[in-house]
Amino acid sequence: MPGIAIVGVQWGDEGKGKATDLLASRTDYVVKFNGGNNAGHTVVIGDEKYALHLLPSGILTPGVIPVIGNGVVVDLEVLFEELTALQSRGVDTSKLRISANAHIITNYHRTLDKVTERFLGKRSIGTTGRGIGPAYADKVNRLGIRVQDLFDESILRQKIEGALEAKNHMLTKVYNRRAITCDEIFDDLQQYVDQLRPMVGDTSLELHDALEEGKNVVFEAGQAMMLDIDYGTYPFVTSSTTTSAGAAAGSGIAPSKIDRVVGIVKAYTTRVGSGPFPTELHDEWGDLLRSNGFEFGTTTGRPRRTGWNDTVITRYASRVNGLTDIVLTKLDVLTGIERIPVCVAYDVDGERFDEMPLSQSDYHHAKPIYEELPGWSEDITGAREFADLPVNAQAYVRFLEEYSGSRISAIGVGAARDAIIQVHDLI
Ligand code: GDP
Ligand code: IMO
Ligand code: MG
Repeated sequence: MPGIAIVGVQWGDEGKGKATDLLASRTDYVVKFNGGNNAGHTVVIGDEKYALHLLPSGILTPGVIPVIGNGVVVDLEVLFEELTALQSRGVDTSKLRISANAHIITNYHRTLDKVTERFLGKRSIGTTGRGIGPAYADKVNRLGIRVQDLFDESILRQKIEGALEAKNHMLTKVYNRRAITCDEIFDDLQQYVDQLRPMVGDTSLELHDALEEGKNVVFEAGQAMMLDIDYGTYPFVTSSTTTSAGAAAGSGIAPSKIDRVVGIVKAYTTRVGSGPFPTELHDEWGDLLRSNGFEFGTTTGRPRRTGWNDTVITRYASRVNGLTDIVLTKLDVLTGIERIPVCVAYDVDGERFDEMPLSQSDYHHAKPIYEELPGWSEDITGAREFADLPVNAQAYVRFLEEYSGSRISAIGVGAARDAIIQVHDLI
């Protein structure tokens, strides 16, 4: 029975939250398996708009069990703020499960994220400043604090002291900041322990049992292919595995339990933060995409960089993620553009690349090779069948499908929950 991974294909903000919400009514579990509160997933239900950062989008659907997997980095202050905000809007959050092996983001991670970015100057990544990179660095360095450590005071103190030792040298001697004490971190974390305890469990086992019983489990990625720590535009990436492989490692289930991998592709492209972006537009077309698509970050409010759709990226994501389906989002935003360029390959210093260039230096020089498709001017937000779309919009979708390496199973035509054309069933 289906384990379904939902992954972003570009540089994030493709509409993963909406896609998860679409499947949630037929789902038993929704699992966040990577990242932390760097994510911002917007879900629009009727007149209500929800912006989720740390919590999986499935939490909005009654009956769904939301899970924060071991691959996530958890900022407890944000967790409880988000839970309280949802509760005050009448959302039942009582079913939330959290892996005992998930890592904790502390104040020193947030501080280090900000000071290292400042020190990088022109080379800064443009992180969300939420402490994500430093928390994952501690995990890999074996200096991390896990959720389970909060329930053993002496271990917790030892771990905080161990983690702070080298960091305080760095903070005071390199970054000219004050030292952080073990007590302040300990007290900060302690205040959440009692509330946290009932949510924590062996989520790997719970998810395994659910899948064995034939329940539907959706694994919802944060970020996206091009921000993946291994496959993205390193070093301008996030610090986790955002691809479908991460769904298994980050939630403790076997890769063979993932039956479908749904890639979310925006009809054009956006990026927040620094790094190469071959189809980026610096002209009025870029401004048009930003204003029509409301392309401002859900987490930091930063204006998103905008550009045309890039099928080289989608082909790459199809291959690395093993995409079985694509949900194409925000097709409505392209309405009214007379001719729509789509990138089919790159030109790097005179050489054509149909696939991603091997070296990052080449990628920085990649110039898009475009094919131009005729646009449409009819309002498509009411379309619910593929045949309802103007012929040029149909041709645009077919073109992307042909060049993307996976079938397009649903098409978003508006932010509302029902503004979607379903071409193939996803569950
Ligand atoms: P995520 O991070 O991948 O979940 O995406 P975000 O929520 O950060 O950004 C996607 C934005 O587009 C949100 O504001 C959604 O409400 C909105 N959205 C999603 N699908 C569509 C669509 O098909 N059309 C339009 N116009 N907006 C959409
Ligand atoms: P969702 O899940 C878009 C970007 C940041 C920065 C880089 C590293 O909403 O698609 P980090 O704070 O993770 O160390 O920042 O990654 N970034 C995102 N961009 N959408 C996101 O999440 C992002 N999460 C991180 O802007 O360039
Ligand atoms: Mg987002």
